[in-house]
Amino acid sequence: MADSFKIDFQAHGKVESGDLIVFVGENLKPTAAVAKQLGPKAVDLIAKAAAAENFKGKAKSAMSIVVPSSLSVDRLLVIGVGGEKDRTNVDFVQLGGLIAGKVNGKLATVVLDLPEIEVTPDAVADIAIGVQLRRYSFDRYKTKKDDNDAKNGGRLVLSVADPAAVRKIYKAREGIQQGVIIARDLVNEPPNVLGPQEFAARAQALAKLGVEVEILDDRAMKKLGMHALLGVAQGSARGGRIAIMRWNGGKANDKPIAFIGKGVVFDSGGISIKPGAGMEDMKGDMAGAACVVGLMHALASRKAKANVVGAIGLVENMPDGNAQRPGDIVTTMSGQTIEIINTDAEGRLVLADVLWYVQDRFKPKFMIDLATLTGAILVALAQEYAGLFSNNDELAERLTAAGKATGERVWRMPLGPEFDKMIESRFADMKNAAGRFGGSSTAAALLQRFVNDVPWAHLDIAGTAMGSPQNEINKGWSSGWGVRLLDRLVRDHYEARG
Ligand code: BES
Ligand code: MN
Ligand code: ZN
Repeated sequence: MADSFKIDFQAHGKVESGDLIVFVGENLKPTAAVAKQLGPKAVDLIAKAAAAENFKGKAKSAMSIVVPSSLSVDRLLVIGVGGEKDRTNVDFVQLGGLIAGKVNGKLATVVLDLPEIEVTPDAVADIAIGVQLRRYSFDRYKTKKDDNDAKNGGRLVLSVADPAAVRKIYKAREGIQQGVIIARDLVNEPPNVLGPQEFAARAQALAKLGVEVEILDDRAMKKLGMHALLGVAQGSARGGRIAIMRWNGGKANDKPIAFIGKGVVFDSGGISIKPGAGMEDMKGDMAGAACVVGLMHALASRKAKANVVGAIGLVENMPDGNAQRPGDIVTTMSGQTIEIINTDAEGRLVLADVLWYVQDRFKPKFMIDLATLTGAILVALAQEYAGLFSNNDELAERLTAAGKATGERVWRMPLGPEFDKMIESRFADMKNAAGRFGGSSTAAALLQRFVNDVPWAHLDIAGTAMGSPQNEINKGWSSGWGVRLLDRLVRDHYEARG
């Protein structure tokens, strides 16, 4: 739910009103050009105010000077850029978030001329994205809006050297930020509003960007033999769906790359029902699917030169007279059978059929799935890293690099015969749950049995996508994790090479 906050880019020049934001180093000095623009009195005022406020120009610290006498602006906001070590690998998206968190007026002008830090048009676009992500909030269901919330009708001017160059890049990137917001909205929506059918309709809406969308309903899935996915869905009054989104921006004969998302719109655990406390959070068990929709939006809106398939398995996991039981054995689309040990290990059942379907139909160059798959990944990695499992070292390395570049970090976890052995079943080809030890790896081992040697990576995002840690660009419950990471992966490695 993006609010109406306008960002403008404008060439450096005098600023007469609103908030004025400038940057200083640890010597408390802005750049020579900014010093000239402010005038000696204001520069002196910064030094004096800093002494009074004990402001040292450290990275991410800020100081506010109200009605500075030598200027006509309401406030002069001074943000520190820190010392030498802070100036390498600046995360401009996070910086944008920091800036957005400091302004509160109707109009603010940010002079993007930073001491010892080069702010390229690319970096400005990232700052703008960070501003918008920081300002996101989900208040669709609040009937009393907060009057103090100054975000409505606000305007942020980014003062830059080359506004035309920035506008061009920002226009091309705006879709990424919208994609993150789409993903956040989907995760935040309550499960009564967003069932499998409604979620599929949101995917269908991408058609207006030129994405081809196909929806499989229960009947179509039955025909395909997807009894693992259908077994999960059968306890819900609302049927399951698979949405397939195709963006064909690459060469006609080029094999696609594929992204697959777990879309459990609500995970009660089923007959192996979860404890009551915190169960409401399981509305977010479709964050993988939400990321795929957000990513497809981002790629289509910047007309990515790549052929991409997005496929999401949408179901609700409920206990019911018709629900699947522990002890049931289901036959997957691949023909392999799975014994249900725990109906709460449902995500892997959904993905088993969607992964098989995608590799079978599209023969992708590689495929990546995203899933809020296991609580165990939170035990291992907390909420800072997503778990990465892969049968392909190169793909794992690319994901790791994209994670470092975007701040959406992944940490590689083990797969292998030891874990595969742990899911052997007495009665079927495999079982869907295997004890507490290595819970994220045994889940991934099950998925691996459905990828048929296609280069594949699995991202367990149970920790990063929901109930998310707060940072400069995320103040909400859902982070939209993965959209920026995967957009970057596509951009860096598959478009560049054609
Ligand atoms: N959706 C959950 C995993 C989850 C946990 C997501 C916490 C987000 C936050 C998943 O379907 C699940 O219930 N997994 C079980 C597997 C177990 C029964 C083998 C788990 O992790 O406990
Ligand atoms: Mn579950
Ligand atoms: Zn789940």
